[in-house]
Amino acid sequence: MRQLVVMITGSAGNLGRAVVQELSLSPARLVCVERSPEKLSQALASLPPEMDVLGLDNVDLTDIVSCQDGVRRAHDRFGHIDALVNTVGGFKMGPVDQFGIDQWDALMTLNARSAYAISAAVLPRMQERKHGRIVHVAAAPGLKAGSHQSAYAASKAAVIRLTEAIAAENRINRITANCILPGTIDTPQNREAMPNADTETWVSASAIARLIAFLVSDEASAVTGGAIQATGF
Ligand SMILES: NC(=O)c1ccc[n+]([C@@H]2O[C@H](COP(=O)([O-])OP(=O)(O)OC[C@H]3O[C@@H](n4cnc5c(N)ncnc54)[C@H](OP(=O)(O)O)[C@@H]3O)[C@@H](O)[C@H]2O)c1
Repeated sequence: MRQLVVMITGSAGNLGRAVVQELSLSPARLVCVERSPEKLSQALASLPPEMDVLGLDNVDLTDIVSCQDGVRRAHDRFGHIDALVNTVGGFKMGPVDQFGIDQWDALMTLNARSAYAISAAVLPRMQERKHGRIVHVAAAPGLKAGSHQSAYAASKAAVIRLTEAIAAENRINRITANCILPGTIDTPQNREAMPNADTETWVSASAIARLIAFLVSDEASAVTGGAIQATGF
């Protein structure tokens, strides 16, 4: 198995941590990206000491210059990046009314602008190498919005369309781009927010992480432009 260099954004979040754990079972070398130094060092502390990991804190994914700086530091250490797994994103609900405009801007920034910025930062070197894998995380409302989901759904739809455009532009460069549409992930925050929910219908972060590990692998070279639903059973 080739020793891939994989950059994981949101690497101390629920899904990001699961992706890091899953990839720590492979020979991959990891670039773990976070904003908060404390969160990042906590997440890195759980990894096997022999793992080749570069931790990058203070990277703001909504800022293209910050993304480019993170990518440059990753190249300085490992020479290239085989795959980007971008798990940064968030969720808020609210009706369409005069007060929702700030939520719209905030979620478009957190979910869509961040995905664009980090993609634009990693693509040039992947294009030079004619190799790369990009995996973003969207969500089912990106296909069809429900009530009180306008900002979230539109921002995740933007992630899906961005992924399709990257895939189309980069077939010639042998770069694949896919996004995952998770169902409700079994996280401490979701358990606290929905104490009466049937958690049997939720999907584990580790199950999504295994799917992502496949998508970044050499075996997944035929899969590109996909919006892959990952809702569990
Ligand atoms: N949880 C679910 O049920 C669910 C369902 C469907 C889709 N999703 C999607 O799955 C992805 C992962 O979800 P999750 O539950 O793992 O989220 P999470 O635990 O909140 O993790 C997100 C991570 O992104 C980081 N982050 C946020 N803004 C950033 C920025 N501007 N620059 C750099 N890092 C930033 C957060 O750091 P800070 O602590 O500094 O903010 C956090 O570590 C998200 O895209 C989410 O929308 C989640």
